[in-house]
Amino acid sequence: MKTIRLGKSGLQVPRLAVGCMRIDKLEKAAAESFIQACLEAGANFFDHADVYADGECEKIFANAIGMKASIRDQFILQSKCGIVKDVSFDFRKDHILRSVDASLKRLQTDYLDVLLLHRPDALVEPEEVAAAFDHLENTGKVRNFGVSNQKPMQIKLLQKFVRQPIAANQLQLSIAYATLISQGLHVNMQDERSFDHDGSVLDFCRLEDITVQPWSPFQFGFFQGVFLDNPKFPKLNAAVDALAAKYQVSNVTIAFAWLLRHPAKMQPVTGTMNIQRIKDCIKAETIELSHEDWYKIYLGAGNILP
Ligand SMILES: NC(=O)c1ccc[n+]([C@@H]2O[C@H](COP(=O)([O-])OP(=O)(O)OC[C@H]3O[C@@H](n4cnc5c(N)ncnc54)[C@H](OP(=O)(O)O)[C@@H]3O)[C@@H](O)[C@H]2O)c1
Repeated sequence: MKTIRLGKSGLQVPRLAVGCMRIDKLEKAAAESFIQACLEAGANFFDHADVYADGECEKIFANAIGMKASIRDQFILQSKCGIVKDVSFDFRKDHILRSVDASLKRLQTDYLDVLLLHRPDALVEPEEVAAAFDHLENTGKVRNFGVSNQKPMQIKLLQKFVRQPIAANQLQLSIAYATLISQGLHVNMQDERSFDHDGSVLDFCRLEDITVQPWSPFQFGFFQGVFLDNPKFPKLNAAVDALAAKYQVSNVTIAFAWLLRHPAKMQPVTGTMNIQRIKDCIKAETIELSHEDWYKIYLGAGNILP
């Protein structure tokens, strides 16, 4: 698979990240064969979080891949911390350090390639984050750092104190959840699409060389369901299916190609546990949607041009 540089870090990563939030739905043997098939297909970047199934997803993954030191450099592991489910968001140093130690234990490894802060903490003290990152880097427990669901000013605040580059920002983005894109098209208009909820975060990440990792690339709403082949989205599916016929690929490939076509050079995080869908996503690297085709899909999803 083709690779891109993750932000300003020294890490080269594949265009697709395999999200492991749903791996607990698989039986043991199915998890093993899914992970092995991902590796064989070149999808060797795995996204985790301490909260996925209360840590079970990290454990299942480590067992499925047969974690041992001799294979550790054959894949890239990213995990997240900062959500204390139904209680708070917590970016305090002690919490970050405890969370990483617990993830490393569950993943049966001694380092993460990437650590992301999962969701902004209203009480963040960036000096504490900086101290935590320094400790994790100095002890070799984490090699690269990033954030998730953060606005430009929140990242700027961290950047004032944190020495390490913020390499990635994981944000929700799909054809059917494209507010990050539509806000930029409705500048200075009076309609509600012009509300800039996220501080032009997509442009900010491009300016600062922060890799955007779109999460839930096949979902609409707050991961309410899949838009492909969904009768709720007839116009979108008609546009996607027409392009699937034109490029001789599946609708999954077209939906993934739509994200790859964006010049921000994003690294979408899939959630499928179906290896054929992973392969269909990887195939998106072999086609490049034309400018006009990209907009046909954008408009098919119900977006308008001002
Ligand atoms: N940073 C954050 O705040 C955040 C939040 C949520 C998720 N994430 C990360 O993002 C990853 C992806 O999230 P997601 O799982 O919501 O992403 P997704 O890839 O949009 O959705 C995956 C789900 O949709 C199904 N699916 C996908 N394509 C389909 C199709 N063509 N037809 C039928 N079903 C289809 C999959 O089922 P099958 O398995 O059967 O294919 C799976 O249940 C997660 O694993 C996690 O790593 C991050």
